[in-house]
Amino acid sequence: MKQLAVFASGSGSNAEHLAVTFAQGDIARVAAIYCNNPKAYVIERAAKLNIPLVLFNRDEFVHAESLVRDLHDRQIDLIVLAGFLWLVPEPLTRAFAGRIVNIHPALLPKFGGKGMYGMAVHQAVLAAGETESGITIHLIDEVYDRGKILLQVSCPVLPDDTPETLADRVHQLEYQHYPGVIEQMLG
Ligand code: GRF
Repeated sequence: MKQLAVFASGSGSNAEHLAVTFAQGDIARVAAIYCNNPKAYVIERAAKLNIPLVLFNRDEFVHAESLVRDLHDRQIDLIVLAGFLWLVPEPLTRAFAGRIVNIHPALLPKFGGKGMYGMAVHQAVLAAGETESGITIHLIDEVYDRGKILLQVSCPVLPDDTPETLADRVHQLEYQHYPGVIEQMLG
């Protein structure tokens, strides 16, 4: 059984979906949820799911020593970023080289980079008049949204879309495809 660490900063619907999906099989389980935001709704989800929560501040994250120790103590095989907003620091990318995966709610390299997260991404896609958007699942290195792409899946942008309706459609793609890519990485 492989051990997953899910990092989230906000709502955490992907974190919950991954936890529930993997709990149904014996390939992996979400061993802990890591969060940088004491107000994030993912904290309530972790409690409800009975999954340990590790809350950390900026300093603890940037230096990463205690975090890396905690990840090793829990025998984490893969770090899964799911709506996590801070750039992963070098001590962490070094300790988990090739074993950190992220999901981005658009088709990179378009609509990526600093500041491109959450609703800002969907607003930018609509403002650009795109006819399709989608998801990108990729490895993480030291630069935002620049690691090797593992999977992209697209969906249409509809003429009457709002950022919210587009976000919903993209979320469905995330729930559908993230567990499978993670499973492949663990293979
Ligand atoms: C997702 O769209 C993910 O792609 C992006 O942030 C959003 C997080 O949603 N990186 P949630 O917190 O999992 O609901």
